[in-house]
Amino acid sequence: MKISAMKKFKPVFYPDSVAVVGASKDARKFGYLCLKSLVNSEFQGSIYPINPGSSEILGLQSYPSIKSIPAKVDLAIIVVPAELVPSVLQECSHKGIKGAVIITAGFKEAEGFLGAELQDEARHIADNADIKIIGPNTFGMFNTHADLNASFTPLLSTMPQGDISFVSQSGGMCHTVSYLALDDGIGLDKVLSLGNRCNVDFADILEFLGEDLHTRAIAMYIEGIDNPRSLVEAAKKVVRKKPVVAYKIGKSQTASRAAYSHTGSLAGNYELYDAALRQAGVLMVNDSVELLDTAKALAFCPPAQGRRIAFCSPVAGPGIVSADCGQGHGLTIAEFSAATREKIEAILPPRTFRMNPLDMAFARDLDMWQEILMTIINDPGVDAMLIFFVKQEFFDSIIGGVVELLIDLLKTYMKPIVMCLISPRDIFVKEKAKLQKNRIPVYQTPERAVRALAALVKYSKMRQSSGIQVLQAQPTDI
Ligand code: COA
Repeated sequence: MKISAMKKFKPVFYPDSVAVVGASKDARKFGYLCLKSLVNSEFQGSIYPINPGSSEILGLQSYPSIKSIPAKVDLAIIVVPAELVPSVLQECSHKGIKGAVIITAGFKEAEGFLGAELQDEARHIADNADIKIIGPNTFGMFNTHADLNASFTPLLSTMPQGDISFVSQSGGMCHTVSYLALDDGIGLDKVLSLGNRCNVDFADILEFLGEDLHTRAIAMYIEGIDNPRSLVEAAKKVVRKKPVVAYKIGKSQTASRAAYSHTGSLAGNYELYDAALRQAGVLMVNDSVELLDTAKALAFCPPAQGRRIAFCSPVAGPGIVSADCGQGHGLTIAEFSAATREKIEAILPPRTFRMNPLDMAFARDLDMWQEILMTIINDPGVDAMLIFFVKQEFFDSIIGGVVELLIDLLKTYMKPIVMCLISPRDIFVKEKAKLQKNRIPVYQTPERAVRALAALVKYSKMRQSSGIQVLQAQPTDI
């Protein structure tokens, strides 16, 4: 009988108890930082620091070895030098531990044969004992839905819960995406760096995240792939349930070589992988900002029924930019019905552009915004709206009302609404947070908003054409 991916990975991502092997009192060591991350994340299960020379670390009772722990352990975070890792895994095996995060570096990625041999030995022990390994050579991982920060970065214990999961080969890219999310005011679900992928690879994690109901969208950062076929097969299955977005590097020779010394695998033929992943239904992006932007639109928004977009902006330029850029990304400019045009013409003066992209410069009170936007979203020729707001004295007094209005429109019509909030980052922070909490993704530039919306439309179309049910925002989630 096939064991579900959820069952296989539960001890890793939803453990009841965690041991930190190599926990240290020395604040400069990874073993100290890992324990601090776990404590800071307010993990509700049991935490067991393991160190042969200490009886207490960070206020927790410490144990000399795994076997001396008087209870069952699900997950071991391993932070001892590479040559000790196989014997620690043997201890894990005897204890019945089924999950390991191996932070330690110096395995397959290291020069010489010893590292590769150590990795083979570790895999052999783990496979025989059904231990799933994240790493080695990883920054670790976190799962906000289990209050679990199993990484060496305590700051990430502050990550709010979210519904985008990120799986990466690189720990540095986990930091990049996590900090982008914190800066953007959104939470994440699970973030992990696979490192050298000893016995857990992208395909396994895709399968697991596909089953995990907390994850609505999956983002990936890929350097080299050892087993492209299994990744493509897994992606094909998972995209039927939820969207997958990927950023693959390796266009240049240099990147390919660097990837090998980073996590021990070649980047391979970029064009081939790119084409295979696209064909599997993965949305490919070109940088880390676009990766999170896209995952955000896919995780937040309801599906779009088509590609006809209404662009409504109180400043003409960004509206025009987005309409232009949207067409380049396969979106079409919705043609308003005669009834919609008539209503808009009765509200806005003739000196503005009253077609799509709609110039709302003279809509300076909330009632006008309400009438216009309700009319437009109600138009059967409109599949999604891109709304602009700009930091400008004229509009300051209505921002709160516009936020409420957009949330109401989304609840009522369940058509995607994306906002471009043109403002310095530290203004309208609360308003932005409220919109995003209510499933309206917010972007700072028209181009970013359009790219994300275009990806949403593409995925929705794919979903429609294959007649599949996809986990997406429902009215009850809002
Ligand atoms: N069980 C438990 N603890 C043990 C142990 C064992 N069998 N053997 C040793 N320890 C303790 C040590 O005594 C030490 O604790 P102390 O500070 O109280 O003395 C602690 O474990 C760590 O061992 P130490 O030898 O001091 O190693 P370190 O902290 O200098 O380095 C690693 C360990 C894993 C951090 C290091 O080998 C490494 O791989 N660094 C790179 C990590 C990395 O970059 N990963 C990828 C990031 S993306």
